[in-house]
Amino acid sequence: MNIDKNVEEDGVIFMSIKDDTNTEGTENAGRKPKTDGELSGSREKEDILILAIESSCDESAAAVVKNGREVLSNIISSQIALHTIYGGVVPEIASRKHVEKMNGCIRAALSEAKVTLDDIDAVAVTYGPGLVGALLVGVSEAKAIAFATGKPLIGVHHIEGHISANFIENKDLEPPFVCLVVSGGHSHLVVVKDYGVYEIIGQTRDDAAGEAFDKVARAIGLGYPGGPKIDKAAKEGNPDAFSFPQAKIGDAEYDFSFSGLKSSVLNIINQAKMQGQELVQADVAASFQKAVVEVLVGHAIKACKEYGYDKLAIAGGVASNSGLRELMEKECAANNIKFYRPSPVLCTDNAAMIGAAAYYEYKKGVRFGLDMNAVPNLPLGDRERRFHAGK
Ligand code: KG4
Ligand code: ZN
Repeated sequence: MNIDKNVEEDGVIFMSIKDDTNTEGTENAGRKPKTDGELSGSREKEDILILAIESSCDESAAAVVKNGREVLSNIISSQIALHTIYGGVVPEIASRKHVEKMNGCIRAALSEAKVTLDDIDAVAVTYGPGLVGALLVGVSEAKAIAFATGKPLIGVHHIEGHISANFIENKDLEPPFVCLVVSGGHSHLVVVKDYGVYEIIGQTRDDAAGEAFDKVARAIGLGYPGGPKIDKAAKEGNPDAFSFPQAKIGDAEYDFSFSGLKSSVLNIINQAKMQGQELVQADVAASFQKAVVEVLVGHAIKACKEYGYDKLAIAGGVASNSGLRELMEKECAANNIKFYRPSPVLCTDNAAMIGAAAYYEYKKGVRFGLDMNAVPNLPLGDRERRFHAGK
């Protein structure tokens, strides 16, 4: 993946992510050239282009995706710098910035894909989970485009999007497989039984993995966003400097719990303060990361073995963690499991992954009505059916 970056006057980072594995020519990037005799009845054989929109947190994003796996354009407008000074995402600032930036993202996504709204087959959007005000911007935008153009509307679950990011660079990946989803709000171990069909076999009892990274980073003075900062600091530290607890949950062996680990880090910080000792930030970061990563990898490998799957994917913001990627790769190789992971830029929030997930919904005939609403706590696998058109 190649990333063109431009920092705008307000501090927002505008990015265009180019899939360097795309081999399409530039003139007809969007479509196969139509032949004279081509009728609308032959549309089944045609490429399906989806305009996808994402605004669940602090990234405004739009993308054009062909046949679920080929990214023609992928635009992200990241507000991260604006929220950093507050130590976390401020929902109202996020919503207001989405309103300002979204049209520009969509315009750029269409123009980079060299298509117009006429060429698009469906409009897809993340409708949950996420920050409600932020989600509503994308949902309203998608509904407006669907209404104005008469094109089908498809609502996508944000986490299904993260999982589907794996399809973009791994053209051979097909369900069933196990996926470890680790983001700022979720830690789920799922079996992807088919496209859009998920069985959750484990989830967090308290903090999500990303949340734990963010809280610990704040506590040791690394600031926001915690995950990437701990990842970087950990490279300089000793992972065996501290022995942090790795919670085991008796009645649910695939569930996660990170709050005990977080408290243990806080205790070490307080103890050091009381004894007037200085903690080596990098050692705490490395030891904490090791504890989280070992639990995540251990659960995922065990699930593959016990459920009998030989394909394992990772997804979500924490999936870009270098320690997690390294250990997972090593353990997968040792256990004859094929390991799939998106490029780091596709692990964070983007619209290409929403377009990938939407394609399989589109093929199944899922269509949402214009009564679609944002669902901030939308559960994975139990999708909100009441917005489906005609239901
Ligand atoms: O998937 P994501 O972009 O947003 C949600 O859907 O939540 O995930 C954001 C989370 C944050 O908690 C961030 O600290 C974490 O992913 N993260 C990382 C890394 N990069 C982002 N955690 C660990 N290591 C990283 N390199
Ligand atoms: Zn996300």
